[in-house]
Amino acid sequence: MIRINENYLKLKASYLFADISRRVTAFQQANPDKKIIRLGIGDVTEPLPEAVVAAFHKGVDEMADAGTFRGYGPEQGYDFLRDLIAKEDFQSRGADISGDEIFVSDGAKCDTGNIQELFAGDIRIAIPDPVYPVYVDTNVMAGRTGQNVDGRYEGLVYLDGTRENGFIPELPGEPVDLIYLCYPNNPTGATITRAQLKAWVDYARENKALILFDAAYEAFIRDPELPRSIYEIEGAREVAIEFRSLSKTAGFTGTRLAFTVVPKTCMAYDGQGGAHSLHAMWNRRHTTKFNGVSYPVQRAAAAVYSPEGKAQSRALVDHYLNNAAIIRKEMTALGYDCVGGENSPYVWIDGKMGSWDFFDMLLNKAAVVCTPGAGFGSCGEGYIRISAFNSLANVQEAMERLRAVLK
Ligand code: MLT
Repeated sequence: MIRINENYLKLKASYLFADISRRVTAFQQANPDKKIIRLGIGDVTEPLPEAVVAAFHKGVDEMADAGTFRGYGPEQGYDFLRDLIAKEDFQSRGADISGDEIFVSDGAKCDTGNIQELFAGDIRIAIPDPVYPVYVDTNVMAGRTGQNVDGRYEGLVYLDGTRENGFIPELPGEPVDLIYLCYPNNPTGATITRAQLKAWVDYARENKALILFDAAYEAFIRDPELPRSIYEIEGAREVAIEFRSLSKTAGFTGTRLAFTVVPKTCMAYDGQGGAHSLHAMWNRRHTTKFNGVSYPVQRAAAAVYSPEGKAQSRALVDHYLNNAAIIRKEMTALGYDCVGGENSPYVWIDGKMGSWDFFDMLLNKAAVVCTPGAGFGSCGEGYIRISAFNSLANVQEAMERLRAVLK
């Protein structure tokens, strides 16, 4: 008899964004004439930068020619891309990361979800609340939690994000081994200072813990004082793995390219006195389970780091940041408390009512989709997240509709 992994039964029936999508589809079917404006899932709307498109085409042409055709590439990514990433994203900012510490992949969602395979089943895990649901669900699937009781899984150490702490949770009050952090934060848009991040790095060093740092939104940081990588913090090479993505940085949500940085100095322990290289372990996993990102996509990704690609990607991000500023300004003017929307594409809004009620109201009365904060954890109840990923015209129209409904 084929038996299931019963840990799946602990999960909510569907993934948050799949759930939202189902409600939106039902609304559209019932209201076929309504133009829905989607400010829910953080999915980019603007086309790829020109320099990226040109490199993408060229990569495809190379695949069409017997002289330049390529089959399987290195699972970790081509050196031309890994070295460029190391130089442009890290070394240029004083972070000591080399090309062979970069693992190119097809998504930060997959990488942040898969990384937990490297760790023991009984480690103590600290999870911020609210949080990107992938970190929690993948640990549930792996059997590292008990049941969900009142919206929280038994066995996890939740780190509360609240208005009072600016959605930057305090260090855990009990010992933990693995810590998930994401800054600029999804969903709250909060950013972390160097001093605050250093406190986490110091904690991890003192406790032989590991930080999984999701920096998928670092391109939205415009404040020069804020760290863009955890490796800008002294000592982080020993205790942190960082996840990056071109999805939001350069419009790659449909093109797919991300990377994970696993420094060679980053260790985990076997409980019998042995220290093991996480770089070697992730390399083992990656080469076993992944065959690399396609060559044209890696060429397209490399173009993001060319002078034209950098300017064009920055303009893309500026476009979304401008939308975020509009959303924040409008919602504040309507009397709502907002976090984020500066150095971040997400605006986190105290809706002053249940999250799903606010979501339903915006959908039914304004045909605008947001994301209910409760979908990111108990501390998200009462909040909604509005994403800046859309055209300026749609954001302006959405704000007009919200003004009509909310004032
Ligand atoms: C979000 O809306 O939170 C993101 O689009 C999710 C993701 O990047 O997977």
